Amino acid sequence: MGHIKIENLTKIYLNRRSRPRSQFEPDDCTDDNVLVLNDINLEFEEGEMVCILGPSGCGKSTLLRIIAGFEKSTYGKVRVGGKKISGPSAQSIFVFQHSGLLPWMTVAQNVGLGLRFMKDEPEKENKISEYIEMVELEGFESYYPYQLSGGMKRRAELARALAVNPDLLIMDEPFSGLDFLTHMKMREEVVNMHEFLNKTTLVVTHDIDDALIMGDRVVVMSGRPSTIKLIKKMEFSRPRDFERDSDLSRLRSELFLMLGVPYAV
Ligand SMILES: Nc1ncnc2c1ncn2[C@@H]1O[C@H](COP(=O)(O)OP(=O)(O)OP(=O)(O)O)[C@@H](O)[C@H]1O
Ligand SMILES: [Mg+2]
Repeated sequence: MGHIKIENLTKIYLNRRSRPRSQFEPDDCTDDNVLVLNDINLEFEEGEMVCILGPSGCGKSTLLRIIAGFEKSTYGKVRVGGKKISGPSAQSIFVFQHSGLLPWMTVAQNVGLGLRFMKDEPEKENKISEYIEMVELEGFESYYPYQLSGGMKRRAELARALAVNPDLLIMDEPFSGLDFLTHMKMREEVVNMHEFLNKTTLVVTHDIDDALIMGDRVVVMSGRPSTIKLIKKMEFSRPRDFERDSDLSRLRSELFLMLGVPYAV
């Protein structure tokens, strides 16, 4: 179910509003086309975690939105679990968003959102506790989001995503805005959870180290119009430490260079 195949995916945005509507002729839109994704071919295996890197504005979020069914491709096909994507699917695909918690609900109620179709109340309660425990938020079940720190909120969001038990988990810059230490801890948590639950997970990140540490594969996209520049299978043992592993360190430098920074920082 979590297998994804992307074939000849092209996305063009038509910027029709650049001219007043009264002056707009259908043929004009060709002047204002923005070619974002250009003939992308990718395949994600069931259960793998793939990290996607690319310069800002290259179309990473667009790609994720098309896979999640929020956006239509201009050309090409995306299949999830063999089925062509025709729209958002709440049960099979979960998009992890920060600030996704509902402020009027407690942590337990937020985590329980994905389980609202479960009829058996005691079983539902158990499941909620299980996921809250997984992200180490025991004792905070009855707290509201405003009573949590940034990192705690992010962990609650993660528990909520996992409770849905989706076939595919999509994360667009999941650690942005977190402080350095919380970022590292959350990253560790996502890696551990992925090893435990084995869900197909796509992570877009700006952070090369995130990709090196988390990914079973790393995909690098070029600047717009975006193509796939690199697909790298990460055959490095875990836990990964690029300061000790010279191959990983070399790859790190290559990725920096590929993304336009001539030296690794
Ligand atoms: N709804 C839209 N209408 C028109 N153009 C859009 C729309 N959404 C995105 N774009 C354009 O598509 C391009 C890619 O945007 P996207 O958000 O996918 O980039 P990104 O790689 O996620 O960037 P970042 O790393 O900064 O988040 C940008 O040039 C953006 O202006
Ligand atoms: Mg983006």
